[in-house]
Amino acid sequence: VKRIGILTSGGDCAGLNAIIRAVVYRATGYGWKVFGISRATNGLMARPPEFTALEIEKVDRILTQGGTMLGTTNKGNPFAFPMPDGQILDRSEEIIEGYRMLNLDAIIGIGGDGSMAILRKLAQQGGMNLVTIPKTIDNDVDITEQSIGFDTAVNIATEALDRLHFTAASHSRVMILEVMGRDAGHIAISAGIAGGADVILIPEIPYTISNLCRKLDERQAQGKNYSLIIVSEAVKTEAGQAVNCTHAFGEMRYGGVGQYLADVIHECHGAETRVTVLGHAQRGGTPSPLDRLLASAFGVAAVDLIAQGKFDRMVAWRDRNVIDVPILDAIQQYCVVDPDSTLVRTARGLGIYLGD
Ligand code: F6P
Repeated sequence: VKRIGILTSGGDCAGLNAIIRAVVYRATGYGWKVFGISRATNGLMARPPEFTALEIEKVDRILTQGGTMLGTTNKGNPFAFPMPDGQILDRSEEIIEGYRMLNLDAIIGIGGDGSMAILRKLAQQGGMNLVTIPKTIDNDVDITEQSIGFDTAVNIATEALDRLHFTAASHSRVMILEVMGRDAGHIAISAGIAGGADVILIPEIPYTISNLCRKLDERQAQGKNYSLIIVSEAVKTEAGQAVNCTHAFGEMRYGGVGQYLADVIHECHGAETRVTVLGHAQRGGTPSPLDRLLASAFGVAAVDLIAQGKFDRMVAWRDRNVIDVPILDAIQQYCVVDPDSTLVRTARGLGIYLGD
């Protein structure tokens, strides 16, 4: 009987519980035991290690639930762990020891590129058998066409545009929706096309305020009294300056570009502007059917990799199939919107202003 661990690491997103459920179902099918590690690697650092023994009864109702039943954190890199007294310590050996204390044969790590890089380093240092599953609303993990959580985030951002549409028209306003995505514009371009935005701004493509306002003026000249703009959180000012980046716990956080645009657009175009910052609503809530489907496929495939003794691999979605690739291949670079991609051509073909 194998003993496998599973943990969720980094920011949460919709679909994490669906992965956990699939892993438990598949592993139970093999007759294995599953240990759900609490709060990312922190559960392995704790003494005694903190975990939940996961059986079918514990997971059979979590398919549709947002968040992660295991808890997670995007703070506390074990190689540079911030202690309450301000010291920064390397606590990697404690995590490896926690893995050994639980007598695990393998561990499934669910995370984005940052978490996967940390988990891989730990696995190499401690001889841990690791398989990873990509998740992030930002969809910036390389190689996989989709990471868990992205589709739900796009759905929520699209619904927000749908709702803004009518209030924009009623008040003859320019509505600006600021969405997440970190340094990648995947959420903005997908939701922008699906939600009928007139302007999509993403970090990958520069823009000018004068061309943006020309687009809004043209719409007005055609009798369209309102416009919808979607902007990715990492978009900078026209002059290339980061806007209102705030620092939480010593880390950079995006936010504020929506208000910057509202002010400059009001000046150049004249219309009333309003900003909606969608924030963490994009991460919470019920996973979309596609996220549940991918989560289920990834969870089963990850357990099957362990059964085959294939480690240091990440499962990925490619051409309607789950494949597996070396984790290193997926974390060497992160994936941003390609300015020559079909989505960019589609947006331009629809007359959406997407920068210059
Ligand atoms: O990486 C996911 C993400 O939601 C980004 O889109 C966003 O910039 C960041 O995490 C927010 O992090 P936090 O939850 O720590 O504020």
